[in-house]
Amino acid sequence: MGAKLLGIGSYLPEKILTNKDLEKMVDTSDEWITTRTGIKERRVSSPSQASSDLGYQASLKAIENAGIVKESIEMIITATITPDMFFPSTACIIQEKLGLDNIPCFDLSSACAGFIYGLEIARSFIDSGKYSTILVIATDCMSKVTDYTDRSTCILLGDGSAAAVVGKSKDDIGILDSYLGASGKYARLLYMPAGGSRQPASIETVTQRLHYMKMEGSAVYKVAVTSMVDAVNVVLKKAGLSKDDISLFIPHQANLRIIQAIGKTLDVPMEKIFVNIEKYGNMSAASVGVAFDEAIRNEKIKNGDTICMVSFGSGFTWASNIIKL
Ligand code: COA
Repeated sequence: MGAKLLGIGSYLPEKILTNKDLEKMVDTSDEWITTRTGIKERRVSSPSQASSDLGYQASLKAIENAGIVKESIEMIITATITPDMFFPSTACIIQEKLGLDNIPCFDLSSACAGFIYGLEIARSFIDSGKYSTILVIATDCMSKVTDYTDRSTCILLGDGSAAAVVGKSKDDIGILDSYLGASGKYARLLYMPAGGSRQPASIETVTQRLHYMKMEGSAVYKVAVTSMVDAVNVVLKKAGLSKDDISLFIPHQANLRIIQAIGKTLDVPMEKIFVNIEKYGNMSAASVGVAFDEAIRNEKIKNGDTICMVSFGSGFTWASNIIKL
């Protein structure tokens, strides 16, 4: 027995923040951002919207797409690094919004690799035979941890969410294989220093802007390319497939140049690599989920196709999987 995606959905907040808008906020230009990142605009949640609100909307769409009654969901896993609050988990908050009760709910902190981590955890629970229908949500409001005075990070990030209902597969379709990795030695290249138990919130931490994401961009860039190339090669080998068996690669949308470098290193043409970064920027865990949902809705992939998802993020974490539709 295996696991497959019974349904998928995504949700993006309405407000659009363009490169032109950013030109008025920091010393940057549409030309610089477009050339260095491929990003033209990103979505930003409203002051009253939190990650659970986005995740809830994506969940409704995934449940509808799966054609199941929500009561058949037996577990909720939420991948987020921007939870509504430290506790309770954002998964519990979404459970309540969905009107469900008395099923296990937990959050998963694997940054941009969170959706693929979540799918693999769901697959493992389903493979164990203990659960048969699991809701996996990837939701992040990166705008809430972005320093809009820091031009090196604020141009990159956006908000969004994706959700998938994962269920049993009795045939050869579904998640064929996955690969998860992490390396904590890189933790301080991409992190949010304060607000946790290491540096609890204080007047000083707020004044020093330590509740915002900090990043060593060029160092992250290099490891992102090598890690995602490696993750694709490892998962292909595990599944006994070659890159030519893959109809579409769906990489994390962090920087178009990173995506192009991955394609070049793997010798995969850009036509076989899904890109929507120009519209959304980097939505952390939600990026590959939203991309997967769009690829299906825009008929870039269809039943019978085999896709490869790959992502990379803070930790560092990385993950890849192969899904036959
Ligand atoms: N507008 C204009 N200039 C900017 C700028 C901006 N938004 N951001 C940085 N710069 C400047 C820098 O200050 C630097 O100026 P200097 O040479 O006078 O010091 C110059 O541009 C080059 O900076 P650098 O950091 O070397 O640029 P880069 O080509 O590496 O691009 C990133 C920067 C952030 C776009 C790129 O490193 C990147 O995408 N890294 C990976 C980020 C990522 O994917 N993170 C998430 C992983 S999940």
